[in-house]
Amino acid sequence: MKRVVSGVQPTGSVHLGNYLGAIKNWVALQDTYETLFFIVDLHAITLPYDTQELRKSTRDTAALYLACGVDISKASVFVQSHVRAHSELMWLLSSSTPIGWLQKMTQFKEKSRKEGGENAAVALLTYPVLMASDIVLYQSDFVPVGDDQKQHIELARDLAQRVNNLYGGRKWKKLGGRGGSIFKIPEPLIPQVGARVMSLTDGLSKMSKSAPSDQSRINLLDSKDLIADKIKRCKTDSFAGLEFDNAERPECNNLLSVYQIVSGKTKEEVIEECKDMSWGSFKPLLADALIEHLSPIQVRYQEITADRAYLNKVLSDGADRATEIADATLYNLRQAMGFYMRD
Ligand code: TYM
Repeated sequence: MKRVVSGVQPTGSVHLGNYLGAIKNWVALQDTYETLFFIVDLHAITLPYDTQELRKSTRDTAALYLACGVDISKASVFVQSHVRAHSELMWLLSSSTPIGWLQKMTQFKEKSRKEGGENAAVALLTYPVLMASDIVLYQSDFVPVGDDQKQHIELARDLAQRVNNLYGGRKWKKLGGRGGSIFKIPEPLIPQVGARVMSLTDGLSKMSKSAPSDQSRINLLDSKDLIADKIKRCKTDSFAGLEFDNAERPECNNLLSVYQIVSGKTKEEVIEECKDMSWGSFKPLLADALIEHLSPIQVRYQEITADRAYLNKVLSDGADRATEIADATLYNLRQAMGFYMRD
């Protein structure tokens, strides 16, 4: 069975972009593939953070995965730091990663600039090596993510290929291994709609956890009133009617796309329904569709967080399953890289 892995950082609240770009698609994949979904807490320490908050956010993010429909009878759910192989593989891979590959990553350039350049943590630079480790550790075939992670997955592919070339094949066989390739080369899975959900206050910027204004995003756990209020106040334009794909109307395209997904309608149905609508009629329609879609998730979330022991058991079982797969990959790599193996 082909394997799918993905994860979300436990920083701040999970928002509609994380849900529509990633988590909602994970749920659709778990029937067809072997799936592993993790909470990437090791990635969350690359920027200054609050230690109390990290612990709480990690638990809350795990609960949200389940509330959104990740089904533990099909998927393994675990915390990245509970599977030590992620950190270990990262070190091994970093020895094959040219610094130049990391220095040119868009997210590194943006985030390190915000951190004051030279003062940024080394982990911000090596972040993509850890992400590559998360993926290749499980011999993953597919990685469902939003558009902003494309470059990171490209790097994971290049790195996997490089390690296969450096250490795989006959060289590995001579060391007593099975030969062949060490890692599978993963493919990104980026949704057609929802891959880049935009800010509610600026249709040209991505919805993000780090944007200072909470008005710019819908968090999955926002109350009904707050959702209605954020939609009521979100940025629009003064064109007549509503339409997709007009470059001069980024807000309009974004809000219609969100409506399309949460209402479960086709693009054609949305065009037909909304083409002559005013913002005054569309906004309550969108707010209601969002509330209807998110309410059951919020109810399930409350039930799951009320039972701490259950959540801990889910994460512990998930980490056990993940460790089994991860250790096999690490064993092969250590052998192929020429380490003296312990009996
Ligand atoms: P993170 O935590 O920033 O985001 C989690 C997922 O949400 C998607 N996403 C969006 N999709 C659409 N519109 C948006 N506005 C939006 N904002 C975020 C992201 O693309 C992502 O899929 N480095 C990753 C986490 C990670 C990971 C991995 C993912 C670490 N290891 C291994 C996949 C596989 C990150 O910071 O995502």
